Parts: sequence; C-alpha cells; structure tokens
Amino acid sequence: MWKMPIQMVLTVGAIIVGSQLAMAAPKEPDRPPVDLLKGKQIFSKYCVGCHGPEGRGGGYLLLGPDPVNLTRPATKKTPDALLLQTIHEGKPNMPSWKGRLSEEESRAVLAYIRALKK
Ligand code: HEC
Repeated sequence: MWKMPIQMVLTVGAIIVGSQLAMAAPKEPDRPPVDLLKGKQIFSKYCVGCHGPEGRGGGYLLLGPDPVNLTRPATKKTPDALLLQTIHEGKPNMPSWKGRLSEEESRAVLAYIRALKK
C-alpha cells in the first residue's frame, strides 16, 4: 500500500529538484523546459546498451571502467554541469555525444537520468 505513493512522490520530487537545479544553473537563463519523454527516448536509443534499461549498469563490459550505475548516490550528488560534461566529452569507455546530441537533447537525457528510481 505504501510503496507506490512513496516512490511516486520521490520520482516527482526528483524531477522537480532536478529541474530546479537545471534552472538555477548560471549561463543559460532562458532555456526551454526539459523534455523527459525525449530524454527517455534518447536514453533507450543510445545509453541502454551500456547503462542498462534502468540506468544501473550491467550493459557492455569493456576492459577498463564499467558503465556507471547512474542511480548511485555519487552520481545523484554530482552537479548537472559535470554530468553534462561527461555526456559531451565522454570518458574512458564512455563515448562522447556532443556530435550526436544537441544541448537540449543532452539536458533531456540528463533529466531522465535524474528521474530514474534508485
Ligand atoms: C559504450 C558504453 C557506454 C555508452 C553507450 C554510454 N555510456 Fe555513459 N558511461 C560509460 C562508462 C564506462 C562510464 C564510466 C566512465 C568512468 O568512470 O571513467 C560512464 C559514465 C557516465 C556518466 C557519469 C556518471 C558519474 O557518476 O559521473 C554519465 C552521466 C553517463 N555515463 C551518461 C550516459 C548517457 C546519457 C549515455 C547515452 C547518451 C551514455 N552514458 C552512454 C559507458 C557508456
């Protein structure tokens, strides 16, 4: 009985907090609102292979760092700007997406990651 509403509250809370963090970021004051559905579509297309359908990792394992569990506390605590940088520039074993995702698409997929359940 209790589980569903609490998870829904947490999810909605995460979306609200995430979007407020995004709004609070300096530099781009009049950015359009993020599109979670678009974020989900991008995630399913490009990111699931490594980060898994729920973002917990468990996809492709290459030599070197494993795909991050994007629901882990360390990622939740990492500021948007740093995660966007990782998405744009890539990391060892993480491709760079800046040629393929627009600024708006990167923000949408980040918002989706932020909204993933723990
Ligand atoms: C080829 C596998 C692969 C694909 C595809 C991939 N990633 Fe990653 N990702 C990784 C790996 C490996 C890491 C960890 C890199 C490290 O820590 O050095 C990572 C790390 C990250 C991080 C940093 C998390 C943190 O806590 O700092 C974010 C954010 C991220 N990925 C988002 C995405 C998004 C969004 C996509 C799709 C657009 C994506 N990734 C596609 C392999 C992948």
